[in-house]
Amino acid sequence: MRWLIPGLLGALVLVARPALAEADLERGKALYATCATCHGADAGGNVALQAPRLNHLREVYLVEQLGKFRSGLRGAEGASVQARQMAPMAATLPDEQALLDVAFYIASLDSAVPEGTVEGDVAMGADYYNQFCGACHGPTAEGNVALNSPALAGSDDWYLMAQLKAFRDGSRGAVAGDRTGRQMRAMAAVLPSEQALADVIAFIQSQAEASE
Ligand code: HEC
Ligand code: HEC
Repeated sequence: MRWLIPGLLGALVLVARPALAEADLERGKALYATCATCHGADAGGNVALQAPRLNHLREVYLVEQLGKFRSGLRGAEGASVQARQMAPMAATLPDEQALLDVAFYIASLDSAVPEGTVEGDVAMGADYYNQFCGACHGPTAEGNVALNSPALAGSDDWYLMAQLKAFRDGSRGAVAGDRTGRQMRAMAAVLPSEQALADVIAFIQSQAEASE
């Protein structure tokens, strides 16, 4: 089955890549077979492998991150073990069209909202979130395509913690040319303590349950 990309995403992709206006879900499904060994058949993630849930993310963000893993903006030297594991997986995708096909297939899947594992103060977290995060990631952590900011609600909370720490220590977002990673690094740095990370994640987790 072939899908036309709807709405704003279509406009963005059409401007950026005129040849990639359509995704082939059948091909995406075949390509996803490799990915499923870590991310799960329903893209619900696998904590034992530190492979995060994917199907709450929008196609445009999936394509962009896969592109970063392929180009070395993410998962190269200096990155976490997990990100360096993911980079060669993205490299197995044969062409640019394959990124789109697999992204649309992933977004078409459905999995349960992950259980919370991070303990934090939701009210404190809401304060931090509204002050520092909501302008880009949206008031309910639903993401904002125009600002390249992914949905955070629906993510595994252990993965959010790992990524915030990675942005803070420079193992993600510090490579020259990673414009959006750099933007997010600056924001991760404003949280005052490890406890603040846990609090903001607890707030995000509370939004996931509300939105699905
Ligand atoms: C060997 C296990 C493994 C396989 C196979 C694998 N991944 Fe991953 N993937 C990971 C891990 C681990 C991470 C977390 C990386 C990090 O912590 O930065 C990840 C992260 C990602 C991310 C980033 C998500 C985000 O929120 O930023 C995307 C997108 C992704 N994988 C897609 C894929 C696709 C598509 C495939 C198949 C082509 C695939 N993965 C195959 C282990 C795997
Ligand atoms: C200026 C806009 C902006 C603000 C403010 C912002 N972010 Fe981000 N965030 C981004 C962008 C852009 C990305 C995607 C980075 C990339 O492409 O690698 C991102 C990515 C992330 C990720 C990685 C998600 C994933 O699936 O890999 C997390 C976690 C995150 N942000 C949390 C936060 C938190 C918590 C705050 C508040 C302390 C915050 N962000 C504030 C723009 C922002």
